[in-house]
Amino acid sequence: MSKIKMILDCDTGHDDAIALMLASKHPDIDLLGVTVVAGNQTLDKTLPNTLNVCDHLGLDVPVYGGMPLPLVREQYVAGDIHGKSGLDGPIFGPRTKEAEKENAVFYLIKTLMESDGDITLVPVGPLTNIAVAMRMEPRIIPKIKEIVLMGGAWGLGNKTPAAEFNIVADPEAAYVVFSSGVKLTMMGLDLTNQALATMDIIERMEAIGNKGGKLFGDIMRFTFKSQNILGLSAGPVHDVTAVMYLVHPEYFEVQDMFVEVDISRGPSYGRTVCDVLNVTGKAPNCTVGMGIKLEPFWDEVERIIRMHI
Ligand code: BDR
Ligand code: CA
Repeated sequence: MSKIKMILDCDTGHDDAIALMLASKHPDIDLLGVTVVAGNQTLDKTLPNTLNVCDHLGLDVPVYGGMPLPLVREQYVAGDIHGKSGLDGPIFGPRTKEAEKENAVFYLIKTLMESDGDITLVPVGPLTNIAVAMRMEPRIIPKIKEIVLMGGAWGLGNKTPAAEFNIVADPEAAYVVFSSGVKLTMMGLDLTNQALATMDIIERMEAIGNKGGKLFGDIMRFTFKSQNILGLSAGPVHDVTAVMYLVHPEYFEVQDMFVEVDISRGPSYGRTVCDVLNVTGKAPNCTVGMGIKLEPFWDEVERIIRMHI
């Protein structure tokens, strides 16, 4: 099987860092580049966080900084969950890796335009970089093989009662992406909140005794504490599910449906309105994650963490 060519777009972030661990070492993935956006924290934090993780694990993938602000709305970040730095918990040594000079948006446009239409985008933060690239160069849209994203929910939100953080952090960008016509898969909160890094899981990864296992523990121990503000018993590894779906769709139950992002400024601003029952009769534009098989999921996470020696 040829490798899946992929670009990870992230706002590192605890679960983003674990998603990067999976994407960078999975034998079936060819990680072409990592583009970074503001989200969990401001870009001047999410970009160094991404570089720190790469440095720490010796990843030589190119990293590009992108959009520092959402398209229309005022910025807000997720310091309550991810801390002041956006990746509180692990301690990194002095950083040597630098971001590429090119902006993430230009990198996306150039790489997609030069491609054979065989690149998958995996955005796990607000969709600002992808939306700006689509608006700046609409010819990239048919060049994108598919987008598998973490964001949204068909049920309740985690940032507002109606909306999930990645989408409500830039609803207009999400609207552009969801209405683009690109083949779309959404791993929303209903699914990702099932993938909890419980203390058993944390200890299991730490017991591997390598760099990857220690980093997993340092990251998820912090999130373990902060997640109880959302009524969860442990920290979910939200973003990891999007990368995992690409290589192991058989671990997931999914349903095709019509999904629209609410960009009206009411209480549902940033909600992914999911037509689960097809009451509108509209043709599906999105495959939505509904369930996950946790045993093979964690076995596969462990297999990849073992490769980060
Ligand atoms: C999403 O928001 C961020 O806090 C996480 O990294 C994840 O991408 C979950 O709502
Ligand atoms: Ca994220």
